[in-house]
Amino acid sequence: DEVPKRILSIQSAVVSGYAGNRASTFPLQLLGYDVSALNTVHFSNHTGYGSFRGFRLTAEQILEQYEGLEENGLSCRHGYLLTGYVPGEEGVMAVGQIAERLRNERKRMGEGLMWVCDPVMGDQGRLYVSQGCVEAYKDIIRSADVITPNQFEAETLTGLTITSLPTLRTAMTALHEAYGVKHVVITSIQLPSHPDSLICAGSTQTPGKHMHAQFWYQVPKQPGFYSGTGDVFAALLLAHLDAGSLAEGGALQIVVRKVLSTLSSILSRTRKGMEEELQTSSTDLDRNEKEEKVRVIRAAELRLVQSQEAIL
Ligand code: ATP
Ligand code: MG
Ligand code: NA
Ligand code: MG
Repeated sequence: DEVPKRILSIQSAVVSGYAGNRASTFPLQLLGYDVSALNTVHFSNHTGYGSFRGFRLTAEQILEQYEGLEENGLSCRHGYLLTGYVPGEEGVMAVGQIAERLRNERKRMGEGLMWVCDPVMGDQGRLYVSQGCVEAYKDIIRSADVITPNQFEAETLTGLTITSLPTLRTAMTALHEAYGVKHVVITSIQLPSHPDSLICAGSTQTPGKHMHAQFWYQVPKQPGFYSGTGDVFAALLLAHLDAGSLAEGGALQIVVRKVLSTLSSILSRTRKGMEEELQTSSTDLDRNEKEEKVRVIRAAELRLVQSQEAIL
């Protein structure tokens, strides 16, 4: 048997439903990875419900868990690092420190580390972290191998606005140039020229060449709003990037195609389950608007367990 492929995944956790580590772990395990989940927040459910209970871990608490791994010779066994939502500026800096410590520890062993960093800061024109967090991300993504911002996050990191395919190219180039990150994937972009699609684009830095290897895909927009899709995206990207050769150019494009195809299947399965659930759940005429909204959000939880075949 081969040496286990181990991923340290630093993300949020929910008790019920799928987001953060709860969305990433199962697909990664299914694809043959051992996943060590370090949770940054622990909530009852994802924040899209409008109300949730639980707690956020401080930077110290995040670091402390990592130090426990170090003490037992566990940290250095991870050849992959996946990071997602982290609450607060200090927490983001702690994740940057963990990445640096892990990379150095691996280097001393003559081993490498691949870090996929999802700089979770906001979406749909809305920043849901502090400005300090943004600055902390601008600092830590310099040592990431792959970043997976959405449109809003890419705009926040570059100060550019993406309104067209040419401005999309410019933004990806700016991310390479400003932060030196080798692979950039902008996971979802909405362009006025493509009103019924989500665009997903990627770019691999090609040093010495004038042009970076860039590509974009168009995905039909499915009705509804789903949580955890960005987290599944980053997890699948890591898994398939590792499996495929990281050859210059081409490779990222093929990996992203696979990820988009899997996500499209997961969303179709989710929509089917959602329709069934909404038909069978009680039709209480007295239900108010808020209750109705939560009923739909509950029904829209990703059908990950039911999508095993698509993931495989
Ligand atoms: P993050 O949440 O990590 O910051 P993000 O906002 O780009 O990133 P999503 O908006 O969930 O994350 O998009 C991730 C991927 O999920 C998209 O590339 C697309 O493949 C898929 N996806 C999400 N929502 C839809 C949808 N309504 N229709 C079709 N595909 C979707
Ligand atoms: Mg989004
Ligand atoms: Na993303
Ligand atoms: Mg997200």
